[in-house]
Amino acid sequence: MIKRKDILKIAIDSPAAAGAGTIAKAISKHYNLFYLDTGKIYRFIAFLKLKFPKKFNHKFLKLKIKSLKIKDLSNKALLSDNVSTEASSISKIKKIRKLVHSFQVNFAYNPPKKYSGSCLDGRDITYNIVPDADFKFFITANIKTRALRRYKELKSLNKMISFNEVLKSIKNRDKSDIKRKISPLRKTKDSLLINTTNLTKRACFLKIKKIIDRKFNN
Ligand code: C5P
Repeated sequence: MIKRKDILKIAIDSPAAAGAGTIAKAISKHYNLFYLDTGKIYRFIAFLKLKFPKKFNHKFLKLKIKSLKIKDLSNKALLSDNVSTEASSISKIKKIRKLVHSFQVNFAYNPPKKYSGSCLDGRDITYNIVPDADFKFFITANIKTRALRRYKELKSLNKMISFNEVLKSIKNRDKSDIKRKISPLRKTKDSLLINTTNLTKRACFLKIKKIIDRKFNN
């Protein structure tokens, strides 16, 4: 695999709805980084499983991942709660993680020339996908805040769901993502903890920017 030299690589891990995606997008825009929300890949696979249950096998999936385009990941259907739950379930399967591994590694180490680097967020990015990232962050927030953010997001998409259902779903996903044997969600020792519970989006962005700029200016 080709690896571009001298690029800035940022790796972020976080539990569901902690605000990592919003921050990662703002940071990527600011530093001109190629951004990937890796959860969307697992959501895409979950979506395929729900939509084509009869066709869903390894061969089918391999072909779909081979032809996967970034724009496939912006489908709004990937955001539903059903897809979230299914994504958490299929992401425990070793064969599936293996299939998407090289897509993510290639994205991180070989971003298009017009970008100065890459920024990926997910569950195993800091220790599995980009272990040598220049910056590693573990972004979190308390469970009620996360559930409320997710609830508002789903409401804005006109999804029929109650706050308690969202809370329960996030709790289940946390449990499944943390307890699974393969690539569980965990904070590595070399990741910086950012708790977004009481921070605005702008405050989170500035906090991370300060950390990055401090290293650059030294
Ligand atoms: O980040 P998001 O909530 O969209 O991720 C959906 C699900 O995909 C997570 O609950 C998790 O189980 C799985 N995932 C993963 N590894 C990643 C990113 C997401 O297992 N790097």
